[in-house]
Amino acid sequence: MESYTLITGASSGIGREFAKSFAEKGHNIILVARSGDRLKEMARDYSEKYNVKAEVIILDLSLEHIADVLYDEVKKRGLAVDTLVNNAGFATTGLFHKIDCVRQHEEMLLNVVTMTELTYKFIGDMCSNGCGTIINLGSCVSFTPFPYSAVYSATKAYILSFSESISYEYRDKGIRVIALCPSPTQTHFFDKCGNVIDNMRTPANVVGTAFKALKKSKRVACPDGAVSRLQSFLPRFVSRRLTLNIAGKISEKAWGEK
Ligand SMILES: NC(=O)c1ccc[n+]([C@@H]2O[C@H](COP(=O)([O-])OP(=O)(O)OC[C@H]3O[C@@H](n4cnc5c(N)ncnc54)[C@H](OP(=O)(O)O)[C@@H]3O)[C@@H](O)[C@H]2O)c1
Repeated sequence: MESYTLITGASSGIGREFAKSFAEKGHNIILVARSGDRLKEMARDYSEKYNVKAEVIILDLSLEHIADVLYDEVKKRGLAVDTLVNNAGFATTGLFHKIDCVRQHEEMLLNVVTMTELTYKFIGDMCSNGCGTIINLGSCVSFTPFPYSAVYSATKAYILSFSESISYEYRDKGIRVIALCPSPTQTHFFDKCGNVIDNMRTPANVVGTAFKALKKSKRVACPDGAVSRLQSFLPRFVSRRLTLNIAGKISEKAWGEK
């Protein structure tokens, strides 16, 4: 059975860049997101350009038990996944109780539940094969609470903690797990929560960081840059209260009540 790299949220931003980069390196790819037309065009384009196989699975990953549906579809098509990129995710911003509750529920399902359950499903196969790679998209807010993005930062803290724990559990089973924690990056991400940030990274920077981290067997990868360094290092040296106050001051300007 030929191996594939499965990328969730492959239709834009960081996921799209992962899809291109893995195809460029000769990996067969499975592209997953809701925007079917975009995924089909990418699949056509990359399979021709890089001479790889490209499959498209159109799914809303913010639904309950959707990981089972995706895993079963992969099996039905006779594909084997040796690399899983849990990239799909989004953020809600604003004062907690004023953000639509259904939207926050979808955010938790997509960022946390589906990510966990996809890892659960595919890591078993990886164990049987004695090798595998899992890249989970955290964020620079994985390291600190981020007011006015309380649910989002909590989901990203979960991803960091979960990824580090399982990277340890599976370290002798040939499985590498990385929490990739980008600082603000130029994608469609901020279209939905207000684009208020200068000096953003590019998706290519972020994906490049992931490949470097894989080479160095790192478990947590943060793209180069002052903001990224500061957000991952600061919480180790100052009190949680101070980090919270700094994060609060930054996010209040952008997303707090005016
Ligand atoms: N950009 C940043 O500054 C930044 C910083 C740190 C971490 N991150 C993380 O990086 C990851 C990728 O974000 P991005 O910046 O590349 O944002 P993006 O350009 O908005 O891309 C998000 C991707 O997720 C997919 N997606 C969203 N909701 C989905 C759903 N319900 N079901 C299936 N797919 C869904 C979207 O595809 P469809 O709409 O086609 O479904 C799209 O392909 C996220 O986990 C985000 O939290 C981003």
